Amino acid sequence: MEFENKFSKVTKSMKSNIIRELLKDAANPNIISFGGGVPDPETFPRNELAEISLKVLKDEYKFTLQYATTEGDNELKKQYIKLLEKHEHIDWLNYDNMLITVGSQQALHLISMVLLDEESYCAVGKPVYLGAANAFKQSFPKFLEIPIKEDGMDLEFFEAKLKELKNKHEIEKLKFVYVVPNFQNPTGVTMSLEKRKKLSELSKEYNFLIVEDDPYGYLRFEGEKLPNIYSMNPERTLLLNTFSKILSPGLRIGIIIGPKELIRQFTIAKQSADLCCPSLTQRIAARYLENHDIIKELEPSLKLYKSKKDTMLEALKVEFENTSKVSWTKPEGGLFIWLTFDESTNTMEMFEIARKKGVLYVPGESFYVNEIEKNHMRLSFCLPSHDEIKEGIRRLRSVVEDYKKVK
Ligand SMILES: Cc1ncc(COP(=O)(O)O)c(C=O)c1O
Repeated sequence: MEFENKFSKVTKSMKSNIIRELLKDAANPNIISFGGGVPDPETFPRNELAEISLKVLKDEYKFTLQYATTEGDNELKKQYIKLLEKHEHIDWLNYDNMLITVGSQQALHLISMVLLDEESYCAVGKPVYLGAANAFKQSFPKFLEIPIKEDGMDLEFFEAKLKELKNKHEIEKLKFVYVVPNFQNPTGVTMSLEKRKKLSELSKEYNFLIVEDDPYGYLRFEGEKLPNIYSMNPERTLLLNTFSKILSPGLRIGIIIGPKELIRQFTIAKQSADLCCPSLTQRIAARYLENHDIIKELEPSLKLYKSKKDTMLEALKVEFENTSKVSWTKPEGGLFIWLTFDESTNTMEMFEIARKKGVLYVPGESFYVNEIEKNHMRLSFCLPSHDEIKEGIRRLRSVVEDYKKVK
């Protein structure tokens, strides 16, 4: 049968996640992968999670083996509210300000379904997290790409765009700006406090929402913690959190926090997507939070990530210091470093040489929606060992040298 003419418009527009395609070889033991943003499995508290799993299956089977409500497990919400009170000084939340989702990725998908359509504008970073761009693209909006600077989004540029939209009488079509303020994926940069405040003011002045995606906020290993935008502007901000980077991505638990009218609409959209999140993993996460200070317990993981980040920065210095044409970000947390080469370099073209030499990265062009820049790459330092990081960066230098010879 010919299937092509059966596909919907959205299906026809879908592309396979390029990162997942490129990184298929990552499991090959001869290859060093700086590709995926996956946590080091040694950081997963596997024994504690095994104990809790057995207990909630035996003692709470009427909940854990049953359908849950679409809104999510109130035990989990209760524990999460405590966590936000303690660590973010957010003390006004009710259960109806929260929806439990299948990771933050589902939150992004629901936001796209509920808020965007073809006439809408949404503003995103340039570069932007690929998974968010793909989720938003499913609603065919118009993207405003806002350059990312060392201290986060270029808000002067954004403000100029806002004025343009206002002059065209299209400002109401701007639904939201999407930001990853802490250790952004893919650049690793953090939005300054001034910019957080300014963005919050702009959202009031021009009447748009802020989607604050924060999977990495608790993975800060140096520098000063900054308040999230949600705490400054709860009426207009949707805060997306996830357990993927602080506990385990295998649980597939995320959470949207925001105004209850919006949460209600996301809940209705989620009903038709999957009825509810798995009861079992929600309750495991709830009991874990109840019995552990999850943020305190991250300390050894943070030490590990910091040391790997330092190893990668040092290796980059050793291998690329004398090449004035390469620069890189120096993140204070998270999982990623962003490399920028001179403009004649195309990191997608270079990828085949890298694969042959046994090192993988994510070509930067994957992270743009309108104007594509080809001279960047994203390196993740969380999974390889220290020796692999040093060897991988050595291989990368040789990849760049070979690429320059054939160019
Ligand atoms: C910025 C950002 N948002 C959302 C996600 C999705 O995370 P999850 O669905 O595992 O919660 C990721 C994953 O890497 C991410 O980097």
